[in-house]
Amino acid sequence: MWKEQIMHVLFATSEVAPYSKTGGLGDVCGALPKALVRLGCKVSVVTPYYKSVADYFQRTGEPCESLYGVTLSAPVGNKTIRAGVIKATVSGVDFYFIEHNDYFNREGLYNYQGIDYEDNHERFSFFSQAALELVTALDLDVNVVHAHDWQTGLVPVYLDAVYKSRSKFDVSSGFGNSVRPQFDNTADRAQKFDDIKSVITIHNLRHQGRFWRGAMDVTGLDWSYFTYDKMEFFGQLNFLKSGIVFSDMITTVSPKYAQEIQTEEFGERLQGVLQLRSPSLRGILNGIDIDEWNPATDKYIAANYDLETFEIGKPKCKAALQQELGLNQDPNTPLLGVVSRFDPQKGLDLIADCAAELIEHEGVQFAILGSGDETLGSRFHMLSKRYPQSFALRNEFSIGMSHKIEAGADLFLMPSRYEPCGLNQMYSLRYGTLPLVHDVGGLHDTVVNASDENIANGTGNGFVFYWENVDDMRRALNWALYVYRCRKDDWKSIIRTAMSSDLSWEKSAREYLNLYEEMTAEN
Ligand code: ADP
Ligand code: GLC
Repeated sequence: MWKEQIMHVLFATSEVAPYSKTGGLGDVCGALPKALVRLGCKVSVVTPYYKSVADYFQRTGEPCESLYGVTLSAPVGNKTIRAGVIKATVSGVDFYFIEHNDYFNREGLYNYQGIDYEDNHERFSFFSQAALELVTALDLDVNVVHAHDWQTGLVPVYLDAVYKSRSKFDVSSGFGNSVRPQFDNTADRAQKFDDIKSVITIHNLRHQGRFWRGAMDVTGLDWSYFTYDKMEFFGQLNFLKSGIVFSDMITTVSPKYAQEIQTEEFGERLQGVLQLRSPSLRGILNGIDIDEWNPATDKYIAANYDLETFEIGKPKCKAALQQELGLNQDPNTPLLGVVSRFDPQKGLDLIADCAAELIEHEGVQFAILGSGDETLGSRFHMLSKRYPQSFALRNEFSIGMSHKIEAGADLFLMPSRYEPCGLNQMYSLRYGTLPLVHDVGGLHDTVVNASDENIANGTGNGFVFYWENVDDMRRALNWALYVYRCRKDDWKSIIRTAMSSDLSWEKSAREYLNLYEEMTAEN
């Protein structure tokens, strides 16, 4: 690619904040495109038009337009599915929402009341094709298609197997191109796609999009791809594995997680394929949206503060949080915060295991916000009934409350079993709420344990434990509580280190841009 040409990246994603979000994927796909635009990239984002997106536009009155006359169609099993396109442009990023009532106008993104939709394979194999159909329908000059997680794992597959003139697997497998009669594969169209490169980002290896083998027929892809080295996984069809095999490059959201996923412990049975693709695998740490997560301007919190004023602002936020949650109004009681999906990944059962003892013997308070797993939810619920003035639970999804906890707590707990990157520990750092984390993935890459040595050399910005068990978490917590109570000047200097960390997207966006440039350099 000529340097003067603008790099055009098409993000294909199943979530993008503020329109749709179940977790960090939405945050990343909301913020990274903006950061890339600031570096001179052109970014288009293609994503489903869920009910939450329609609600968002209705609630905010922000402008969006239906692209009349544009219909995207793609085969799904024996049917041809057609969808409309809605466009909005924000901060220089073009958002294209794929409108298909049956598939996307639903309450949940992937499930309803905890039960996965039965047609997720259909919905996302259609969406993956629609993302590529958009390129022809709007004649976009795309250099790189950037897919995210299993939901768009088939984007690199369709690109290679259907949209390009030749599949990269033709020769090595001895199988023909997988083009089936129902796919429109004119030479003209192939030319447009031949130079497009693909990258897939793994945000969470546990969620792979695994379906029974018959789903192959729904994708319309040739059964010759249903082999252990391509789309098949222990007898099932695996969308994420397919994306890993077919894309030109693979990234994940922290350098540590990039290493971890190549091991048996964290590899979720995909370590073999990831080891094979190791030369094309990179870990690029997420950033955070520093406009949305800024204690100096945050609209949700009781008092704004920054590095100079946190000693005045944070206690006000803490008092307001204690009051709103019905906790004892005591400025000196350590307040421990959690904002999280309730999922085994997050290791929150360790907190449930020792909360009563911590309240009774250490006199701490908890402010917990989250939803998901009901067993964990009910354990927390019982604690909140037993200790109403010390243990507060908000069993819901609330953006406002997540900001209030980030600002008002003293410590923020993330005992995750694994954590590809994690955003909340970074929000905590920026809000001077010291994170206490398990040493895995992105937590390892962002939190430096405030040991005596690291307090002295000014690098400690939180607290780390190394073994996934209550005793080791308690050990780290004991140390944190001791510093909080008995070494107040050190506590403040750790807060200063935390609040000074560079967490912006700019550095990471530059790494993505370098990657796109490397990938397209040979064109
Ligand atoms: P994950 O994507 O694994 O859930 P991350 O730390 O990357 O973990 O991102 C989680 C995101 O979701 C953060 O922005 C966090 O504030 C938000 N979040 C999680 N649970 C809730 C909740 N109950 N209410 C509001 N925001 C939440
Ligand atoms: C996933 C991971 C989380 C990461 C997020 C955004 O949901 O669980 O660690 O921060 O994706 O990349």
